Amino acid sequence: MNIRRLLSFCSFYHLVILHLFALTNAAVPAKRFAAPFNRTSFPSDFIFGAASAAYQIEGAARQGGRGPSIWDTFTHKHPGLTPYVTLFHWDTPQALEDDYGGFLSSKIAKDFGDYADICFKEFGDRVKHWITLNEPLSYSMFGYARGTFAPGRCSSYVGNCTKGDSATEPYIVAHNLLLAHATGVKVYKQKYQKTQKGQIGVTLVTHWFVPKIKTPLGLKAPLKALDFFLGWFLDPITYGDYPASMRANVGRRLPKFTAEQKKLVKGSIDFLGMNYYTTQYASPMLSVPRVNLSYTTDNHVDMTGMTDANNSTLPLKQALKDDLRIRAGANVKGHFAWSFLDDYEWDAGFTVRFGITFVDYKNGLRRYYKKSAYWYKKFLLKNGK
Ligand SMILES: *[C@@H]1O[C@H](CO)[C@@H](O)[C@H](O)[C@H]1NC(C)=O
Ligand SMILES: *[C@@H]1O[C@H](CO)[C@@H](O)[C@H](O)[C@H]1NC(C)=O
Ligand SMILES: *[C@@H]1O[C@H](CO)[C@@H](O)[C@H](O)[C@H]1NC(C)=O
Ligand SMILES: *[C@@H]1O[C@H](CO)[C@@H](O)[C@H](O)[C@H]1NC(C)=O
Ligand SMILES: *[C@@H]1O[C@H](CO)[C@@H](O)[C@H](O)[C@H]1NC(C)=O
Repeated sequence: MNIRRLLSFCSFYHLVILHLFALTNAAVPAKRFAAPFNRTSFPSDFIFGAASAAYQIEGAARQGGRGPSIWDTFTHKHPGLTPYVTLFHWDTPQALEDDYGGFLSSKIAKDFGDYADICFKEFGDRVKHWITLNEPLSYSMFGYARGTFAPGRCSSYVGNCTKGDSATEPYIVAHNLLLAHATGVKVYKQKYQKTQKGQIGVTLVTHWFVPKIKTPLGLKAPLKALDFFLGWFLDPITYGDYPASMRANVGRRLPKFTAEQKKLVKGSIDFLGMNYYTTQYASPMLSVPRVNLSYTTDNHVDMTGMTDANNSTLPLKQALKDDLRIRAGANVKGHFAWSFLDDYEWDAGFTVRFGITFVDYKNGLRRYYKKSAYWYKKFLLKNGK
């Protein structure tokens, strides 16, 4: 995927949700940036929210009858809030995993469509923004290539797993995620959209990439990295097929879309959600692996964190100029902070507290606003109508 195509795509779809994981540098005096900054600094139709996911805040996975009532409760408890509902945030029912291998099987697409149908039917009168999947990349990459997320599958040469195949399974799972997504969208469009008048999309995640070396090959590396992160999902949704670089590098291990699947997947969103965490440098791999193949190395690109080197000879004035990390121009229509409540943060468990609301795990899960929640409230109220 080339950058120009990507950018025009972003401005084409009218909703882009930016999910920011803000890491602030405590050493920088905050006052330096204390220019007037409040809600009026944003367009009047800019959306602010705080994100959350059922599994991460509710737990109780084994309690009988725990259906999709989470957002039912949510909408009733918080009248006035506009729910943006994500249907799948990585918590595949164990029964389907045992039955046919979960997302390793194309059978999941029909089951996902049936599940989505129930959600649209029961909640579509109140929910007008549906997101089929959250970060399918994380699910396939961490669950099936690296093995650090459930179901913890990978090749032994990549991670610490007892089962799996990092060379093939991530691609099969991504393919079935796309089919499940598109099946859910089809159900919504055919049965509900006309009467319920809502919108349906998907939330993807990607890093941005910049070249580390400016040789002709070096300049291509970020685009290849982007293909394997974002294009893997966005190209099929936009054009009906995987990026050319993926088809070339992965070859027969990459599933092919049938003509029918192409039709199903292509154009299957009303809006695009984007989760963005960081930018990385990308450079061509010095030696391309010939054995022990894996999704993690198939892009033939080395990716490294984009931090400025600690350089004590650099004058302070120069060191503060990090223009490379500031760009403008995307048609961003809203922002959801992660997260609303302290949660079970996947492979990090309860060791981190992401919430703007504190959850007292020792005292009946009592909730307290943190300073950030009060800040957010004040920020939203200033001049807010
Ligand atoms: C909000 O910010 C604008 C500039 O973006 C400024 O003119 C205005 O005074 C600020 N309002 C408050 C209440 O701080
Ligand atoms: C491939 O993986 C196997 C199993 O982990 C390992 O023993 C072998 O050294 C690897 N080969 C290469 C060339 O990395
Ligand atoms: C690998 O996983 C097993 C459990 O499946 C665990 O006992 C072991 O400590 C892990 N090894 C490493 C190096 O993480
Ligand atoms: C940064 O670099 C300077 C000198 O090169 C060194 O003295 C200092 O310890 C470094 N700081 C950190 C946090 O590594
Ligand atoms: C540190 O900064 C100086 C001055 O800009 C520059 O000449 C030098 O290459 C930098 N060193 C590193 C390791 O980036």
